[in-house]
Amino acid sequence: MPYLEIKNLSYKYEDGTRALDNVSLSVEKGEFVGLLASNGGGKTTLLKAIVGLLKTKPGSIKIDGKPIKEMSRMELSSKVGLVFQNPSDQLFAPTVEDDVAFGPRNLGLNGAKVQERVKKSLQMVGMAGLAKKPIHHLSFGQQKRVSIAGVLAMKPELLLLDEPTAGLDPKSESSLLYTLEQLNKKEGITIIIATHMVDLMPLFLDRIFVLKEGRLTIEGAPEEVFSSTQVMEGVDLRLPYITYLIEELKHKDHLPFDELPLTIKEARTKLVSILTENLVGLKENYPAR
Ligand SMILES: Nc1ncnc2c1ncn2[C@@H]1O[C@H](COP(=O)(O)OP(=O)(O)OP(=O)(O)O)[C@@H](O)[C@H]1O
Ligand SMILES: [Mg+2]
Repeated sequence: MPYLEIKNLSYKYEDGTRALDNVSLSVEKGEFVGLLASNGGGKTTLLKAIVGLLKTKPGSIKIDGKPIKEMSRMELSSKVGLVFQNPSDQLFAPTVEDDVAFGPRNLGLNGAKVQERVKKSLQMVGMAGLAKKPIHHLSFGQQKRVSIAGVLAMKPELLLLDEPTAGLDPKSESSLLYTLEQLNKKEGITIIIATHMVDLMPLFLDRIFVLKEGRLTIEGAPEEVFSSTQVMEGVDLRLPYITYLIEELKHKDHLPFDELPLTIKEARTKLVSILTENLVGLKENYPAR
């Protein structure tokens, strides 16, 4: 049985916008999957639906076999947590530590346990030193990290993140991805991340779902999804840059790549082996100038 099962989910906003159109997908326990779409594709709507924030058809979303519409708010929030795209939609307490403590307190944990969770979650996002700071004095990236800590402190089984690295600097971006990878691999937390980081996705995702105008159009492992520029252009997205470079080398310079590598490491290995095997022929095609 999949951990998350979505069947024929459609959603229309009040003004008539059809944001989700007959989406069906399932995610297994322990998977780390990505949600990819251009702006307005339906990522945020889908994530909000999964945490029960939207009026959806009963039975269309099940977590651990149970329809979310049959769960109490408490039961649902102990299973699934959403980090909002915009931290100001999520943060409301006066200080960093108050905000992160809010969820665990609501779960009924005692003071010491709450403090422990607050400390650990802030450490995970590199914000331990700013626990006493007023939220409204934080930079955007810092607010983003606090909003992630607030959800981590709930210890959800399913963690949903809506573009968590947008607005983070490169070092914070990779340290957040490392933290998420640890949570997934070591603690078995199932993760769904909506993101535009196509260059980094192949490094950490098991599977990717691609939405276009609310419809699920492509689904598969990163190597299946990022198969060509043409496929990506069809969904208004792009290949990882390294994959695009290799595609150009394959089609325009006729280097004999069979599959397109998705990471710098893979590309380097394949390129070195092609160059070594074909050095003679290449020298004839590209004489030294
Ligand atoms: N409250 C709302 N009322 C009406 N239409 C909405 C509302 N929220 C979103 N939409 C529309 O629903 C569609 C999907 O929006 P959604 O926010 O889910 O996209 P997204 O993939 O998260 O985009 P982005 O990458 O910009 O965050 C868009 O066409 C958007 O204009
Ligand atoms: Mg969005």
